[in-house]
Amino acid sequence: MPSASLISVASWLPEQRLTNADLEKLVDTSDEWIRSRTGIAERRIAAPGDATSDLAARAGAIAIERAGVQPADIDLLIVATSTPDMVLPSTACLAQAKMGLTCPAFDLNAACTGFIYAIEMATAVIEAGRARTVMVIGADVLSSIVDYSDRSTCILFGDGAGAVILQASDEPGVLSVHLGADGSGADLLYVPAGGSAAPATCERISAGETYMRMNGNEVFKFAVRAIPQVTNEALADSGLTLADVDWLVPHQANQRITDTVAQRLGMPSERVVCRIEDTGNTSSASIPIALDSLYREGHLRPGHILALVGFGAGLTYGAAIIRWTRED
Ligand code: ACO
Repeated sequence: MPSASLISVASWLPEQRLTNADLEKLVDTSDEWIRSRTGIAERRIAAPGDATSDLAARAGAIAIERAGVQPADIDLLIVATSTPDMVLPSTACLAQAKMGLTCPAFDLNAACTGFIYAIEMATAVIEAGRARTVMVIGADVLSSIVDYSDRSTCILFGDGAGAVILQASDEPGVLSVHLGADGSGADLLYVPAGGSAAPATCERISAGETYMRMNGNEVFKFAVRAIPQVTNEALADSGLTLADVDWLVPHQANQRITDTVAQRLGMPSERVVCRIEDTGNTSSASIPIALDSLYREGHLRPGHILALVGFGAGLTYGAAIIRWTRED
């Protein structure tokens, strides 16, 4: 049975920055409150006219170039997003055309855990011998569903995209993935209108129902409980322990969540990747963006063990244990 290896990683962030000082002008908040409660200083915001597929295609194009493959070599494209360009067609089809790919393409929505879910799907397809090369993109334009009059959410979220390419290999790369979902917590983070339950009407749009609603305290408690648990489960599946992990790459949601998770796992802070300060929470893009920053800074070595861990709306959670195999 072939294994799946990550042969490339890339990310793309919009130019425009939304700083804490900018938010001070929109809502009753302060730079000091946002930094101390979240660790965030600024986020990136997509340019007018740029949709999720544009960000996805730019990250994907860099990943293709770094992998040294041709667009025709990609057998499958999975785009993890909860902010699709439109209800249909899928954002993956729109990004596929923008990248000049010809492969099957579909979207996957597991909110901020979407990237981990997509890694599991890509790995399964490769291990089953149904595809050789699969691109996974996590991309979100959260600014399209953020209410910039709600100080409890608008301080957290930003836009961005990250991509990886997985390929069949004799050398094991994706060692194990463990996923979970608990739909009883669906009301902790949701967008009330715009779907089939409550189609967007003038009244619902005026009432702000097409924006995200969140119970931040409960999501926080869920995250610090679920993430250590799923990380340990995925490690056990791969026959490794935390002592083997070179880099913990958590979903970048709140610095205090990352710190609490690291502390509960007993993971030294220098091996925990924290990149939230300049990007905010970019949902399904945050893990590949953080991974790409590790790569570009030259921290990844062949044989390094990575624990990629995420949580998000659904509620969903997941962890992927990966051996880095790229040489540069
Ligand atoms: N500026 C100033 N004060 C604020 C702000 C703000 N931006 N937001 C809330 N407050 C106030 C509250 O009104 C409250 O005031 P009160 O004590 O007078 O009632 C006080 O600050 C404390 O509020 P809490 O909600 O308890 O603050 P907390 O420390 O929990 O931080 C936060 C809130 C940042 C939202 C935190 O709960 C959090 O990060 N939760 C996790 C959210 C998350 O990760 N969501 C994404 C999941 S991934 C996905 O699928 C998209």
